[in-house]
Amino acid sequence: MGIPGKDPALSAIHVSIDFDRRLWREDLDGSRAHVRMLGERGVLAPEEVQTILAGLDRVAAEIEAGTFPWREAYEDVHLNIERRLTELVGPVGGKLHTGRSRNDQVATDLRLWTVRRLAELDREVAALGTQLLAQAHAAFERRTVLPFYTHLQRAQPVLLAHHLLAHLEALGRDRERLAAARERAAECPLGAGAGAGSGFPVDPARSAELLGFRRACRNSLDAVSARDFALETLAALSILMVHLSRLAEELILWSSQEFGFVTLGDAVTTGSSIMPQKRNPDGAELVRGKTGRVFGALQALLVANKALPLAYNKDLQEDKEALFDAVDTARLSLRVLTASLREAHFHDERMREAAEARAGYANATELADYLAARGMPFREAHAAVRALVEQARAEGKRLQDLGLERLRAISPVVDDDVLACLETEAALARRAAPMGTAPERVREALAEARARWSDGD
Ligand code: ARG
Repeated sequence: MGIPGKDPALSAIHVSIDFDRRLWREDLDGSRAHVRMLGERGVLAPEEVQTILAGLDRVAAEIEAGTFPWREAYEDVHLNIERRLTELVGPVGGKLHTGRSRNDQVATDLRLWTVRRLAELDREVAALGTQLLAQAHAAFERRTVLPFYTHLQRAQPVLLAHHLLAHLEALGRDRERLAAARERAAECPLGAGAGAGSGFPVDPARSAELLGFRRACRNSLDAVSARDFALETLAALSILMVHLSRLAEELILWSSQEFGFVTLGDAVTTGSSIMPQKRNPDGAELVRGKTGRVFGALQALLVANKALPLAYNKDLQEDKEALFDAVDTARLSLRVLTASLREAHFHDERMREAAEARAGYANATELADYLAARGMPFREAHAAVRALVEQARAEGKRLQDLGLERLRAISPVVDDDVLACLETEAALARRAAPMGTAPERVREALAEARARWSDGD
């Protein structure tokens, strides 16, 4: 097939209908707005506008029904729709393209598509956030405790709710980034023509309004050649995927037998074809694995845009597959993690064991803080506790098992209440400064997060 009269290789590299037909709704909406605007400006007669709008509706019906004849000979979604329109309504269909070029048309379509998908993605992020919040709330009710990790070494006890809310913070920033990308994508290129502007008395502001854009682009050359809205979207999605991959990685680690902190549900795990005991976290692993595709899309489009002279160049056709794949990947990843969290069963006892384990010394900071709060310079306290931890480790004991006398021997400032400070609940309660993991702070943080996430923003 391909384009008649063209080398098959040129056809193969040039024809975009296989992927850009995804823009058909946006292409039809853009054409409807354009033709209405032309009617309002007296460029087209009212009957012509009506005929073309009715024809575009027939095109839409054919595409919906799967009967639309997509033809490679017509290259892309724009020409396919325009040619079919003319077949359906006659030569008046050829008036649709008055005062327009495929250059401003494709930029309009892709911006419209991006704005719409970003709105949908925001709802998917909100759904994941809501699920995180539900698990955080439940974990708070149970006062589930685990150690947090630095360098993947047990550090200090925190509430599981506090840990889950940390992921929620990152998602909140992702939503801000998606909203900013949406804001900048919502500028309408229609009226820029091929790049110099239109020779007809078009009204770009009206086209923008009809399509729900924030405003029209200000410069015709920029309007047809700018793809930074797509780059910004891909950058926001890449950062979102960083966050999703971190959450996925924790679900993978935590569901291992080594951690045993969580069991993921049957609906989001798979068995092994040979090992009957396996419950593999494939969903989370694939989120982790697919993160690279989104980074790749950003990289590909950055390179395609780099040093491109103004204005439109065919290199820009490469924007679509990158953007489509990144949006699909992010959406799927969000859904997989939302389902995984919904199905997650956390093991409170295992987490507490890890927080209080003999070999963990997650309460060593408490003892150092205790000494510092009673006047010992923190550096000295740190050294003293470090030495004590070494001894305890050699004896296979926890700090509190060393007994009051040995703790009192550290310094005269040590009192009988020292043992109480080594308890996990005391460690949590002391972290009561803003941002901390003390139950009273986490209770506030949960209420605040619920208010922020409940109304979908
Ligand atoms: N399929 C093209 C694209 O995606 C549409 C614009 C074509 N413009 C042109 N001057 N050939 O970029």
